[in-house]
Parts: sequence; structure tokens; C-alpha cells
Amino acid sequence: MTPDPYTNIPTILVALGGTGDLMRRKVIPAFFYLYKQGALPDKFKIVGFSRRDMDDSQFRSYVKEVITAHAGELIFPEVIESFLKLFKFQQGEFNDRDSYRELKKTIDECDREWGICSNKLFYLAVAPEFYKTIFQNLSDSKLSEPCSKHEGWTRLIIEKPFGVDLKTAKSIEKLLTKLFKRRQIYRIDHYLAKEMLQNILTFRFANNLFEQQWNRQFIEKIQIRALESLGVEKRGAFYDPVGAFMDVGQNHFLQMLSLVTMEHPKSFDPKIIQATRAAILKKLQVPKKKDIQKNTFRAQYDGYRAIEGVKRGSNTETYFKVRAYLNTPKWKGVPIILEGGKRLGDPLKEIIVTFKHPKPCLCPPDQAHHKNEVIIRFEPKDEILIEFWSKKPGFALDTAPHTFHYLLREPKAHIPYIEEYAKLLLDCIKGDQTLFVSTDEIKAMWHFTDPILDAWKKDAVPLHTYKPDTKDIIEKSAHI
Ligand code: BG6
Repeated sequence: MTPDPYTNIPTILVALGGTGDLMRRKVIPAFFYLYKQGALPDKFKIVGFSRRDMDDSQFRSYVKEVITAHAGELIFPEVIESFLKLFKFQQGEFNDRDSYRELKKTIDECDREWGICSNKLFYLAVAPEFYKTIFQNLSDSKLSEPCSKHEGWTRLIIEKPFGVDLKTAKSIEKLLTKLFKRRQIYRIDHYLAKEMLQNILTFRFANNLFEQQWNRQFIEKIQIRALESLGVEKRGAFYDPVGAFMDVGQNHFLQMLSLVTMEHPKSFDPKIIQATRAAILKKLQVPKKKDIQKNTFRAQYDGYRAIEGVKRGSNTETYFKVRAYLNTPKWKGVPIILEGGKRLGDPLKEIIVTFKHPKPCLCPPDQAHHKNEVIIRFEPKDEILIEFWSKKPGFALDTAPHTFHYLLREPKAHIPYIEEYAKLLLDCIKGDQTLFVSTDEIKAMWHFTDPILDAWKKDAVPLHTYKPDTKDIIEKSAHI
């Protein structure tokens, strides 16, 4: 693979929080993947910016450790050595203006060496409490200013969580949009980059099989679930104030909901796709207090409270089930069930669209509900299943369910996170916002989740418990 002309422009990525968890687990391995594919610009540098006392060579040793530990395969040492040459280190504090001046010097030096004004990408791999300080300092130091209208763009990548509620999200967004142009801001939700989820729009809009029936007249319910096998492990301090619903429900689940219910965008234009996703998210019926008790369920696995960083007596949920509705003529009354959590046994992540029993049905009397299901699954495998009924061979009219099955690829072909991050980083370098989240989407998602999170905080909905590594709780919440 060679970088395409839109990508092959000298670029410097500044990783703020360059030695943090996010860089180690996702960003560095994703860049290594892109490097091996030959997809990065020919002139490319990654400047790690963090408060750690390091020099370039120590930072490179750190990066080497990360990729060797992550790769789990034999990599030619010369490939690693040439990859490491991309890295530089700049020591600094996020709230110290001088640190940004030093950073600018490092970047300018690189531009001088290349004899060009390069593109600059600022990746905020930091805890959200630093966002505002960093936005302000990038702007004040003019680091985020392009060299000219046509030369050396500057962009910002920001990770979730985008706030902790609508109010905080609005205040982050206000500063962000005051200091930067919309085209400079890239908000990551890695679910949007999952192959199978990207496939939803293709499945729906590049076929004429189901789209005419994709509405309340034919669809009985939609289930969106991500049952994880892993628990909270070492992330107690991060997870405990957040909980399962804010960690994944408020963002990944609602993005899946938007993909499966949005209108036809009629175009590949990123702005139109973002706006179409936002339009359906704005139609989420904001639940009233009495509905929250009826339509939501939360639970915590036994042993969660003993995890380091978790508050004693914590009431944080590690499992949730929420029944949502959309206020549109197309979807009114169709329950959309969001269910997710940790330590739930074998992983299962999927969207199930259940069709209504045909009326009238030319099926044997007194037989089971002749429902059809479309299942879009992305764990343990990327696959699409279509359940249908057919006549059993023989003299009698008897029917049996069957499945059409499409396997996108074997699970081994996909390394978690790497593919998603590689796609997103490359899209950001290309300037394609399709798989990034807009400010309107962020606001609409918080608007829906705020009352639920608030009611749960006030213990208005009981907190159940479950035995880890089992699916017991799924039976217990079956009424939702
Ligand atoms: C992250 C959450 O955003 O998504 C994690 O913080 C969660 O807690 C993860 O495990 C799930 O992502 P994936 O790609 O493994 O389904």
C-alpha cells in the first residue's frame, strides 16, 4: 500500500499524554500497523508530549517496548528501528504556557528540516479534566494555527468521554467551537470504525431487500447488546464514577442505534452523514421519571466493590438494560433495547432486528410466531444472519426456522482496536469526518441519557447484583 495523494503530505502528530494508557494500548499499535502497511505520509513524525522526564531515545525505547509487547508476533528488527525514528519527545506540563512554546520550537525545527510547513495533528490522549486547559493553550500558543489558508492544516483529535452530562459537554463544546473551526475537530467513537458497523449503512442502503420494510409497520423490536467477558480489572478509578451506561451506553450504543434507524443520507458527504445520525438521535424520547423505573434496569457484579479504585459501598452499575423509543412516524412505539455490561461470560455483541409476525400468515395454524430476524453481529465474529421460515419436506404443511449466514471474516483476522484506530487516524489525516462524532450528536446523546443517569444516581431504580462470568442477570432483566 502507498499513501494516497491526500495523505502523502508531511505531517506531525503531537500526542498530548504521549506516555499514557491510550497511547500504549491503542494509538502506538495503530500507527505501527499503518506504518507496516505503508499507509503513512512519507514524511511523518510523532512527538510525544508529557510531563515524564524523558529524552528522544528513552521515548523510543518506551515505544519499542509497547509494540513488542503488543505485537505478539515476530517483527523484523529493522522495521521496528525505522518506525522508532518517527518518534520525538517533548517534556512539558499541560497547564504551562512555556511548555507549549518549547513544543512549538520542536515542531518548527522539524518543519525547517523538511523545508515545508507540515500538517499538524494534536491528539489529546489525556484525561478529560485537561481538555479545556489544552484547548486554550494550543490556541494561545498559536500551535493550532495553520501556516496559511492553503498550507499546513491543524487538527485536533479528542476521545470520549465528552463531558459527564449535557451541561459539561456543552461547556467543553462551547470552548472548543470558540477556539477552533468545525473542520479542525475530530471526536472519536471507535465503534463507528468497526467494520461490521460501517457495514450497516451498506447493508441497508446498498441493497433493496429490507429498506422498504425497515419501519414500525414491519419491525417489532430492535435489540442492541454488547455483553463483555472482561471486567473492570485495573480501571476501577476511571470506571467507578462513570459506570457501564455512561462508559458505553451513552456513546457506542447510541451510535449503533443511529446507524440502524437513521434515514437514508442520500450521499456520502461526511457532513450529511453526521447530520443524519444526529437527526435521529434528536428524536430519542427523553424518558420521564415513571418511565425510567419501568424501562431501565441496572446491576453490579459480585466482587466489583473490592476492585482497587472503586469506592467502598459503590452503587455503580456494571450492567444495564434500557428500553428506548424514537419519536418519529417511522419508529413510534418500536422498543429499542440497549443491553450491555461486564463479566457476562462469553462475549456477544450484536444488533437484532425482529420483524413482526406476517398478517395474514400462510403458516400452519397454532404454530410459533413466524418472526424473521436480521442479526448484525460483531463479536465473537463479524457476521450477518437472516432467520427465515421454510416448509419442511413431506406431505404435511409444517414449517421450520432456518438461517442465511454471511461471515465477514474469521475472528483471527482482526486485532481489537488496532483496525478501528488505524482507520480513524488515517481518516483524520485525510480530512474525512464521516466516522467522527459531531457536536449535535454529542448533545442529543446526553439529552437522552441525563435523566436516566440522574435517576440512577438517586437510587430511584434498584441496583441488582449478579454472579460474574454468567448470563444469569440477562434472565432477571428479561421483562425489559
Ligand atoms: C470502551 C470502554 O469505550 O469500549 C470499555 O471504555 C469497553 O469499557 C470498550 O470495554 C468496548 O469496546 P470493544 O471494541 O471492545 O467492544
